[in-house]
Amino acid sequence: MKQAHISAINGMEILDSRGNPTVRVFIELDDGTCSVASVPSGASTGENEAIELRDKDMARYAGKGVLQAVENVNNIIAPALCGMDVTRQSAIDKTMLELDGTANKSKLGANAILGVSMAVARAAAKSSHLPLYQYLGGAGARRLPVPCMNILNGGEHSDNNVDIQEFMAVPVGAPNFREGLRYIAETFHVLKKILNQRGLATSVGDEGGFAPNLDSNEDAIETIVQAIEQAGYKPGEDIAIALDSAANSFAVDMKGAYDLKWSGAGKMQSRDLIDMAKQWLDKYPVVLWEDPLAEGDWDGFVQFTSKLGNKIEVVGDDIFVTNTQYIQKGIEQKAANSALIKLNQIGTVSETIEAVRMCRDAGWRYFISHRSGETSDTFLADFAVAMDGGHLKSGSASRSERIAKYNRLLEIEQQLGDSALYYWE
Ligand code: PGA
Ligand code: ZN
Repeated sequence: MKQAHISAINGMEILDSRGNPTVRVFIELDDGTCSVASVPSGASTGENEAIELRDKDMARYAGKGVLQAVENVNNIIAPALCGMDVTRQSAIDKTMLELDGTANKSKLGANAILGVSMAVARAAAKSSHLPLYQYLGGAGARRLPVPCMNILNGGEHSDNNVDIQEFMAVPVGAPNFREGLRYIAETFHVLKKILNQRGLATSVGDEGGFAPNLDSNEDAIETIVQAIEQAGYKPGEDIAIALDSAANSFAVDMKGAYDLKWSGAGKMQSRDLIDMAKQWLDKYPVVLWEDPLAEGDWDGFVQFTSKLGNKIEVVGDDIFVTNTQYIQKGIEQKAANSALIKLNQIGTVSETIEAVRMCRDAGWRYFISHRSGETSDTFLADFAVAMDGGHLKSGSASRSERIAKYNRLLEIEQQLGDSALYYWE
């Protein structure tokens, strides 16, 4: 089959779900195929993430404009990539890395580079007449991820007094994705009722979960267990719980000192947090814990994993930033047993796939993730199926930018029909 070549690339500035500028990229091929992709943006970011280029022009969007990144797409990346075979994803990504020339993509911007990289993958899939999940994952891509739904928000994603950033409902016992999504969406609605009855706020945080002021972090988790039961499900059997502490946000020095300031629980060391986690695992049906410690607290991560890694999935997000350099170190030191995978932390589709491959080769799990600033782009849903990781997080059962990914997964499951797989492991 004749491969299509890139004939035009155009960027533009759009807004993300927080109303901040982000990059959208359009690509045209010489066979007439057109594609578009939009880049997400985080709030609780890791120190070593690839750099999102922002204009810093305080006269526009408080300095957050991305016109320079758009210009880089149009004037630097487009001329270099036009004429290339669109199916050569790694060669295209490598060309952009060379054009950028920095270790953290600070010259062209990871937002510029990722927009192009995603639009290239999507154009190649379209031109090959394949759904994106199959183009990226091959004919064997048929496993739907278990949706980890962030139904209660704290930390930097809300203005409440809960330290832990994300409390996720995980439908581990559902027979398929569609039913799993129903289990947790119903739980979300019951949670709203419970909060209402307690006279607590039911406004939502950045990822669509509720963000009430609560008595403690334990109160958050106990209220979720109550919601699971009242929705008619068995905690731990039908629906389990996953947590993202995003512990950077309550770290004092990134080296093992913490201050659980929002809940008033006060100063703690890594070992206190590990003891707290141990107690929680005895009491609550937690199956996954992300960033239980801060990104600089490698010793804490090693301790946490050695004590609890045989019971739950210990995920590194800010500590690894989807970067094989840090994931490799994590594997060597046994600092976790899973890595969070966010496309814009590293900035190209092929490097993200490399990060997944490294996890898989080491017998680690990997957890595919959206960002707290999102768009309606559903690339992530197809990517999760393609990567065969078995679970993803895309926020709550509210806010269209979150639901868009879950709805795309419903479509994929329907397309796959009897061949679709769904299980937690
Ligand atoms: P972020 O949060 O997108 O704001 O970084 C998500 C996470 O910490 O997993
Ligand atoms: Zn995280």
